[in-house]
Amino acid sequence: MREVDRFSLQNTKSTEAMDAVRAHCAAFRAENGRLPRAFVLTFGCQQNVADSEKLSGLAKEMGYELTDDPARAELILVNTCAIREHAEKRALSIVGQYKHLKEENRELVIGVCGCMVAQEHRREQLKKSYPYVDFILGTSVLHRLPELLARKLTEKRRIFNGDEEYAIVEDMPILRNDSYRAWVSIMYGCNNFCSYCIVPYVRGRERSRAPEDVIAEVKDLVERGYKDITLLGQNVNSYGKGEAHGVDFAELLARLDAIEGDFVLRFMTSHPKDATRRLVDVMAAGRHIAHHFHLPLQSGSDRILQRMNRHYDRAAYLSILNYMREKMPDIAVTSDIIVGFPGETDADFEDTLAMLRRVRFDMLYSFIYSPRKGTPAAEMLGQIPKEVSGARFDRLLALQEEIALEKNQPLLGSVQRVLCDGISKDAGMLSGRNGQNKIVFWENDGTPAGEWVNVEIDRVAPFALYGQKIN
Ligand code: 5AD
Ligand code: SF4
Repeated sequence: MREVDRFSLQNTKSTEAMDAVRAHCAAFRAENGRLPRAFVLTFGCQQNVADSEKLSGLAKEMGYELTDDPARAELILVNTCAIREHAEKRALSIVGQYKHLKEENRELVIGVCGCMVAQEHRREQLKKSYPYVDFILGTSVLHRLPELLARKLTEKRRIFNGDEEYAIVEDMPILRNDSYRAWVSIMYGCNNFCSYCIVPYVRGRERSRAPEDVIAEVKDLVERGYKDITLLGQNVNSYGKGEAHGVDFAELLARLDAIEGDFVLRFMTSHPKDATRRLVDVMAAGRHIAHHFHLPLQSGSDRILQRMNRHYDRAAYLSILNYMREKMPDIAVTSDIIVGFPGETDADFEDTLAMLRRVRFDMLYSFIYSPRKGTPAAEMLGQIPKEVSGARFDRLLALQEEIALEKNQPLLGSVQRVLCDGISKDAGMLSGRNGQNKIVFWENDGTPAGEWVNVEIDRVAPFALYGQKIN
């Protein structure tokens, strides 16, 4: 059975609320012969996955049992994403489907959390058009879930105030999804205001956890057998900026790398303008740090990069990239690209393709630009028609597929050390990731998730490697 990590909500208000919900859960159990159930659904990025592990941890501490079936739940929490319109539409459509669950079960409480509810127009929409949603909870006030729930259960009113606190709360309960892989947030928020991006508006200003808290969490995870630890932040390279402790990201990584044990350290996401040579040196000298760098380029056109407010150009990007490859020839570099940014001409797009050919990323996450209300780019002239961005997107994917396949070809016949993630539903085979974060598949031989295996590669595809387990 999964247990919550450490836990001590110091805040008295939260403690009282927690007791009130616990009493409610105990009464429910006395009446129904079982604990009430909570279902947590997550959209979006790894930060949201990590936040959901905290929401689940809180639910468990309050006396709920976790379920993966919304139809059997007494509490549903939908953790939303606002990065593109598609993510918001999907979340709203799922929330819409819960209407009939509420009709069937009057006890059901529905909360909507995450980035979407930090936007006033979405809060209003949920309040007006989704009367079966009971409360909303912003990303910076997850620890207040017990209070909202206690109020909802006693006062029977809907709560839609949209408060955010933007303080760091340590020692939240965490119910981790896996027993070998863990997400560790090291900072929250973003100060970069890239002109297309909603994140700085919905997650607030950058703030970093104290280095000793991060180190204690990672040490504890390693001692408990976690093998794959990913440090999270919107821009991990700004870790520690403006804090008195003077520990920057490179230094934090060096200190974490000094922890003894058999584990891999990963991190995401980095901003090219803040990725330092010292960070690269720490990676190259590291014992545990994966040779993988996710470095979002966004566009290969200097003109578009400027309109995106990215504060680097192609030359600066290539300079840090070349340094990385010089220090770690085996490093895998992955990136994010947005196509169809307002004002992107055919020539700008060709510049992006040219950068792809030049850099040869191991993997690319590509997105069609999605206007976000309240961001400067949404107001820019030159919005690109869907057909144009769609066609560019297809060309980008095709080129990347070619490059990724060529890059994987030399791995034929190699032996990869892989951390098993268990059975892949799609492939019906075991899968895992190697140090460069490449996906590797092999025949199901019963290896449990969380175990290291060696796989001899006998087939390569653009997005994965295939092979046989060897001893
Ligand atoms: N439209 C499309 N893609 C976006 N991203 C961020 N905002 C938008 C947007 N408005 C992409 C960026 C970022 C990734 C997480 O999502 O590439 O790096
Ligand atoms: Fe968004 Fe830019 Fe911040 Fe990343 S660095 S979260 S793209 S504003």
